[in-house]
Amino acid sequence: MLPATKAVPKEMLPIVDRPAIQWIVEECVASGIELVVIISGRYKGSIQDHFDVSYEVEDVLERAQRSELLNRIAQLPNMVDIVSVRQHRPLGLGHAVLTARPIVGDDEPFAVLLPDDLIDSTPPATKQLVDIHAETGGGAFALVEVEPENAHRYGIVTGERVGDRRYLCTSMVEKPAPGTAPSNLAIAGRYVLPGKIFDHIANTPKGAGGEIQLTDALVKLIKTDAMYGAVLDGRRYDTGSPGGWLEANIGYAMKRPALREQVLAMVRSHTSAA
Ligand code: G1P
Repeated sequence: MLPATKAVPKEMLPIVDRPAIQWIVEECVASGIELVVIISGRYKGSIQDHFDVSYEVEDVLERAQRSELLNRIAQLPNMVDIVSVRQHRPLGLGHAVLTARPIVGDDEPFAVLLPDDLIDSTPPATKQLVDIHAETGGGAFALVEVEPENAHRYGIVTGERVGDRRYLCTSMVEKPAPGTAPSNLAIAGRYVLPGKIFDHIANTPKGAGGEIQLTDALVKLIKTDAMYGAVLDGRRYDTGSPGGWLEANIGYAMKRPALREQVLAMVRSHTSAA
């Protein structure tokens, strides 16, 4: 997404009227998560600012008597408790998750949401995984079926089918070389993990791309603990590329009655001009 993300964190790019990270935090709230830990790098202070009080904006909206918008802005800091931690070096997803260990602790399961992946589903994707954990006691992650030519971009899973679109994971590989993927089931960016994953991450060497991979730690975890992969209902958008970002905007806009007709008219106008 460069140059768009040169000075703006990619998590702050708007999807319709709110930044991607707000959709993610809203998914957490709707899934019963009580504490959100945002793990970010340098130059990402605007993410914290977004969830903080903004007296200037609120004052302007109050004077303009824009009460509906004022309410929406004023509720942002109160949505859920949010803590931010810095990952000092971009050493990989596993390393990023490990950064939150002092806050999350090893005793309770926790969810991981990757903000590049927006999943529009009812119930929310994270809630579906929380429910699988409640039902089975195991961990869970979201799966998406991908075309073979795209499998090398994902963590790929094989498993034993244990229900409608649910698998007990038996093996996983992060970003398999093109043509070597063992299945078409890719991990989408939602996980519910047991606290003991932290020990496994701490003992995981660098893997694909020279990074400490969460998938490699999960490979160790599944030797002793059940992890379920679930192909979730709903749509998944990969907002980390221009096409996926655009599709997410169209998809979420189409769900708003006030925008739906505008989007359809725009598409008609552009396709007839093409
Ligand atoms: C990460 C995970 C990968 C997963 C993907 C989903 O990769 O490591 O297993 O399939 O997210 O978006 P990344 O996209 O950060 O390279």
